[in-house]
Amino acid sequence: MTVSAKSKVCGILANPVEHSMSPVIQNFYAEQAGVDMVYIPLKTGEEGLEAAICGAYAMNFWGMNVTVPHKQRVMQYLAEVDPSAREIGAVNTLVRTKDGYKGYNTDALGLLRSIQEQDINLKGSKCILLGAGGAARAAAYVLVSQGAAQVYLLNRSADKAEEFAETVNESAGRQVIVPLPIADYGKIPAGSYLAIQTTSVGMHPDTDQIPVRDQDFYKQIHTGIDVIYTPMETRFMRQIRDLGGKAVNGLDMLVYQGVAAFELWFPHISLDAETISRARQSILHHLGGTAHE
Ligand code: ATR
Repeated sequence: MTVSAKSKVCGILANPVEHSMSPVIQNFYAEQAGVDMVYIPLKTGEEGLEAAICGAYAMNFWGMNVTVPHKQRVMQYLAEVDPSAREIGAVNTLVRTKDGYKGYNTDALGLLRSIQEQDINLKGSKCILLGAGGAARAAAYVLVSQGAAQVYLLNRSADKAEEFAETVNESAGRQVIVPLPIADYGKIPAGSYLAIQTTSVGMHPDTDQIPVRDQDFYKQIHTGIDVIYTPMETRFMRQIRDLGGKAVNGLDMLVYQGVAAFELWFPHISLDAETISRARQSILHHLGGTAHE
């Protein structure tokens, strides 16, 4: 790849930024698609966020990704926020417009595509959502907007689960989210569920952790999606597979959020399946040991 004076510049604002896979993914997409773009890590603390956004715009940055800890606070510095990102309450992708950046949430798009690849139809589905943080907000948006019938939300702190359910139910106009403290998982009615795991429980290096220990809980899950991708198979996933269910890790969500961001910056391009599959391999290569446990 050659960087020239004509190259478009994109980057990721985060702190820490060192573990981000986005530079690997986005530079790979640019190279494969023949787009003259260079994508760089931009370590920015909370105190520097506003200056970073203004500076990036002033320096003609074409597009940005924003991640921990900026996904919520960044919204106040944008010219516009896409309605679905507004509803989720978080932005991870900025697209340059003539007045400033417009914010989108491609985490939700990535998760949706990852679910669709599993041939899961969300309309009328019964779901369990574990966690009530930022990733859970994107997941809830996907489930509710795709017509899930009921979502049981399990969270360690009950207050946060209730607050979360109230906000989402109000904007959905129906009582779709039922909040429960995680210890009350036994109150979920018997049935067959899609479960999305959005907590950090089970992530490298604490790979022996699992959000619910009781095996019976996992018997009612036909498909489990864990947003974690280090390790590639979490204990949550293994438990579901051991009982005959299907389990998917967060790698595809990561890959597809990147695809969605790239296609927002370069709308004339649609990345092909071969490129996406090679990006997945490239991430695995970079993750090295932590991915294969
Ligand atoms: P993210 O933006 O990645 O979703 P977050 O906003 O910090 O991260 O949310 C983390 C989620 O994981 C929360 O739902 C948190 O539960 P609390 O609301 O009770 O804090 C959950 N979580 C983190 N560590 C956990 C643990 N050890 N056991 C259970 N839940 C945990």
